[in-house]
Amino acid sequence: MPTEFQIRRARLSDAEPIFALIHLNRDQLVPRPMGNIVENIDRFSVAVVGSDIVGCAAFQIHPEIGQPEAATVELQSVAVRSPYRRRGIGKALVEAVAESVRPFRPREMLVLTFAPEFFTSLGFNEIPKTKVMHKLYTGCINCAKHADPFTCPEIAMIRHFEGNPRTAG
Ligand SMILES: CC(C)(COP(=O)(O)OP(=O)(O)OC[C@H]1O[C@@H](n2cnc3c(N)ncnc32)[C@H](O)[C@@H]1OP(=O)(O)O)[C@@H](O)C(=O)NCCC(=O)NCCS
Repeated sequence: MPTEFQIRRARLSDAEPIFALIHLNRDQLVPRPMGNIVENIDRFSVAVVGSDIVGCAAFQIHPEIGQPEAATVELQSVAVRSPYRRRGIGKALVEAVAESVRPFRPREMLVLTFAPEFFTSLGFNEIPKTKVMHKLYTGCINCAKHADPFTCPEIAMIRHFEGNPRTAG
C-alpha cells in the first residue's frame, strides 16, 4: 500500500528522532553526537509520516574535493526506518537534498555507502576511493569500524549535476 509521506527541511525539534534513526542504522552510518546534529540541523531534510520522523538525509560541502568554486557535496546520514523502506522515501530524501544544494552550483554529489544498489537506482556511479583521498583521511581515518579505509567495503559513488561533467578528485 502506498505510504503518504512529506519531505521537509529539518527543525531543531527533529534532532532527537534524527539521532535515534542514525543510531538504529549504526552498522551502515557514521555515528553523530546530538551536538553535531543540532549544529548541522540546517543541512538535514526529514521524511515525515503523520507526526513521526521516518527518514533523514544530510549534506556536507567539501571544498577540498574538486575545485572550491564548484565543490563536491557529500550525502550523509541517509536512513529510512525499516518498516517504511521500498516506498520511495529514500529516493525522495536524496532528491530533496540535491534540490537544496543545487542553488550553490556544486559539481557533483558524493556518497560513501554500503547500499550501492539504492544509489545506482538514483543515477550514481562507483568511483575509485583514491579519487576522494581527503575524505578518506579526515572522515574514514576516524571511523571505529575498519582500520584501513581501502579494505573497508564501503563504496564511493558520485552523481554529477547537469552542466558540470567533471569527476571528483
Ligand atoms: C538505503 C535506504 C536509505 C533506502 O531507502 P528506501 O526508502 O527503502 O529507498 P527507496 O524506496 O526510495 O528505493 C529506491 C530504489 O532503490 C533501490 N533499492 C532500495 N533499497 C534497496 C535494496 N535493499 N536492495 C536493492 N535495491 C534497493 C530500488 O531500485 C528502489 O526502487 P524499487 O523499490 O522501486 O525497486 C534504506 O534501505 C536504509 O535506511 N538503509 C540503512 C541505512 C543505509 O544503508 N543508508 C545509506 C548509507 S549512505
